[in-house]
Amino acid sequence: MSNLYSTQQRFFQKSYIKGEHGWPTIEPTKELVDLVKFVRARFKSGKPAAIDIGCGSGRHSILLAKSGFVTYAVDYVAEAIKEAKYYAALNKAKGIKFVRGDFSKMKFSPIFNLAIDYGVFHHILEKDRSIYLKRIYEVLKQDGFFIISCFSLETRRYFELKIKQSWRVHEGHYDKFYSAKELLTVLQEHFKVIKFIHSKDDDRMFHVLCRRA
Ligand SMILES: C[S@@+](CC[C@H](N)C(=O)[O-])C[C@H]1O[C@@H](n2cnc3c(N)ncnc32)[C@H](O)[C@@H]1O
Repeated sequence: MSNLYSTQQRFFQKSYIKGEHGWPTIEPTKELVDLVKFVRARFKSGKPAAIDIGCGSGRHSILLAKSGFVTYAVDYVAEAIKEAKYYAALNKAKGIKFVRGDFSKMKFSPIFNLAIDYGVFHHILEKDRSIYLKRIYEVLKQDGFFIISCFSLETRRYFELKIKQSWRVHEGHYDKFYSAKELLTVLQEHFKVIKFIHSKDDDRMFHVLCRRA
């Protein structure tokens, strides 16, 4: 299993090189648009700071920058950062700080009012997930917000996955599918859960708004 994170990084790199992956490239996810708006409204003055962990092509980094956050966009795949820079320029999203690196190994001071993780946490092995969430906790300011989107076990499409348990190792990477109960339990070790969204339109993901407890 220890090699899995290396093959996982290569899996992501190949997806960008081939231009084939299962998550959207351009449009931000609707639930995140609403949640970012909700968080932004809490900061009436000044410019809050946000980090987009595993930014991919930058669709949520662009959303953050355009919503008035000082934005850090982090991804460990060079091709993803290149794409994110391209789409940021195309969308005239200014001032995004792009950082290439493995978030699990990076050091940030607690400077962020908001962290977003869309699609990284569910690739973290169970043995490492508490440390990973603690790392997010530690980059947040006191009372900082955290938006997480991850695979749901409670999807009608689950049967299509043809797996018999809540995780799989697939094409060199790890996928974990969370029940609402398990996700709440693990998040509540570090955060206060404010909104828990499981959309009927697309029930493959949970979207959760948390606050540093
Ligand atoms: C499922 S994609 C989602 C991309 C983006 N968040 C979005 O919503 O479109 C996951 C992204 O996280 C990146 N990633 C995964 N693990 C990471 C890590 N430990 N550090 C930095 N980036 C990571 C991958 O390279 C990939 O771009």
